[in-house]
Amino acid sequence: MNDRIARWAIESIYGPHVKVGRIEVEKRINSTRLRVAPTDDNLAALFVKRTQPGYQQGHLEPGVKHLPSIASENQNRFRASLSDPIRAPKSLLSDDVRGLLVTEYIDGRNLKSVMAKSVRPKTFDPAHFMKLAGKALASWHAMSSTLAPTIAGASLPSSDSRVASFLDFSVWNILISREEQCVYIIDFPGSKILARRHRDLATFLHSLLVIKLHPMVMVNPRPWWSWKEAYSTFLASYLEQEGLELTSADYLLLHFVT
Ligand SMILES: Nc1ncnc2c1ncn2[C@@H]1O[C@H](COP(=O)(O)OP(=O)(O)O)[C@@H](O)[C@H]1O
Ligand SMILES: [Mg+2]
Repeated sequence: MNDRIARWAIESIYGPHVKVGRIEVEKRINSTRLRVAPTDDNLAALFVKRTQPGYQQGHLEPGVKHLPSIASENQNRFRASLSDPIRAPKSLLSDDVRGLLVTEYIDGRNLKSVMAKSVRPKTFDPAHFMKLAGKALASWHAMSSTLAPTIAGASLPSSDSRVASFLDFSVWNILISREEQCVYIIDFPGSKILARRHRDLATFLHSLLVIKLHPMVMVNPRPWWSWKEAYSTFLASYLEQEGLELTSADYLLLHFVT
């Protein structure tokens, strides 16, 4: 099965004469991920994600299905609106019937895995990455409001208006490039859901708490970052980029949805 998918991906992107080289497979509950390299070293490796067709992410409302074609469209639209150091891998191909999404492969580390380490990696500055994460989410929301200006609701205060939710804007969906120069946002929403911006803001807080509440992190005698500081840096960067100020009602709402 994986061999067939790898061949399909390589031939669709590079043409029928290019052969599949090494395939690395990672199987998870929600998805199977493949890193597929062509035999020709001059050609870039591909990342293939396979989800069950009609797959529904556990944390979403009933009936919300994930479609690779929508994730792909979201990813490339966002990608076009970005500038360094925030990036998104280029989406190359999707197949809703088989639940497949092919993107360029990024050689990077997941932000969660770095922040879960017991000792701070030498050059790693958590505040820097929290600022970039806040800016990235603000850019996503800004882009979604240009797509749906009529739905956003002119009469609502701007902090209240609806945005296209990213659905899982979390530390595990941010990759850091090897040289720590760029961040890549991944795992784009495969469905279009309008929600208050607080939903994504709360999801990110939840993802920081997930790291902090891991037993190995909890027993670390020398924690090197705090969720309060990390989250306020993230939030300040988000608000600055969006030109918004949150009220105490917003904070309550954030607390409530987390
Ligand atoms: N374009 C990519 N290049 C390299 N690795 C990736 C890429 N996209 C995702 N990954 C890796 O695969 C993992 C899962 O991908 P993701 O799209 O978040 O799927 P899931 O829906 O299973 O969370 C990521 O945490 C990351 O480690
Ligand atoms: Mg993910």
